[in-house]
Amino acid sequence: MAIQWFPGHMHVTKKAVLERAKDTDVVIELLDARLPGSSANPMLAEITQGIPTLKVLNKQDLADPESTAAWLAYYNAQPATQAIALDASELAPAQRLVAGCHILAPNRGGMAKPMRVLVCGIPNVGKSTLINTLKGKRAAKTGDEAGITRIEQRITIADDFYLYDTPGMLWPRIVVPESGYILAASGAIGRNAYDEEEVALELLANLRRHYLPLLQARYRLGSAESLADLDDATLLEEIGRKRGTLLGGGRVNLQKAAEIVIYEFRQGTLGRITLETPEEFTGWLAAGQAADAKRQAKKDARKKRGRGNADNVPTDTDAVDGPAADEENNAS
Ligand code: G4P
Repeated sequence: MAIQWFPGHMHVTKKAVLERAKDTDVVIELLDARLPGSSANPMLAEITQGIPTLKVLNKQDLADPESTAAWLAYYNAQPATQAIALDASELAPAQRLVAGCHILAPNRGGMAKPMRVLVCGIPNVGKSTLINTLKGKRAAKTGDEAGITRIEQRITIADDFYLYDTPGMLWPRIVVPESGYILAASGAIGRNAYDEEEVALELLANLRRHYLPLLQARYRLGSAESLADLDDATLLEEIGRKRGTLLGGGRVNLQKAAEIVIYEFRQGTLGRITLETPEEFTGWLAAGQAADAKRQAKKDARKKRGRGNADNVPTDTDAVDGPAADEENNAS
């Protein structure tokens, strides 16, 4: 089952970002270096279209350096875009952002034309950490839980350089199912929106494709040959057994095992890992968009039939792709 999330204060945030975008010289889009494609908010791209963008691949200390280099090359090849990878808690790389903004908007600077920079990103991506590093003290405190609304803050980095901070923003509908799992694994989505066991199984499937040696080393698993025949559920069970998450009768507590795998991925205990390459993500996106377009076409056809049918009686085919699947997903 694909993950659905509750976007919380999305509408308020979207309005604030839309308003601010009118007077923005550069957008700093914080991405998670372990999932650059999946952590990019498509809604943000729409809102900030035409504004030079600095893509910051944050948490690079947790990501696979080779993949980070591939993602940087991918983004730097895009027009009006600069990409930088960093660890938001380190000052020198964070200061490179200021230089990056001046490259993207060379006509801004000086008291008469201060640089106005909008900082955006999904929850937990590291916005507060980055702003605090740049500011040199605790300048921004976020409240990313649903219901806590933090209207934009202006942070003065220099007399002619302002940052506008926005609350973490997710988008209302997941088009790429793989991204839903990856975002959940990264910690960007509230715990109530997903099932840990399901996310751990998807995470394991991803990790065994690209980082099997890291899994073997961390959980003292057998040889690649002996693991090849195990399905993901059996692998999770095996990990639980190794880590002693046992219930009575020798059964494994899969929930606990799932929590361990997710936690250790998040903390970087498994090693430096990136869950998607530019090619993989591009493929997922194309498939997701095609499926979405198909769903939309079905929905439109149903609507058309409904209009042509005075009684509006549902037909058999209506049940195939239930209407709920197409609504903005607000399940939490
Ligand atoms: P946000 O404002 O975008 O929501 O994110 P915030 O700065 O609060 O950062 C979320 C978590 O990510 C924090 O961990 C923070 O220390 C960590 N973080 C931010 N940037 C980096 C980075 O470049 N590298 C690493 N390794 N971690 C980073 P936390 O306080 O432990 O929170 P949590 O992870 O337990 O939720």
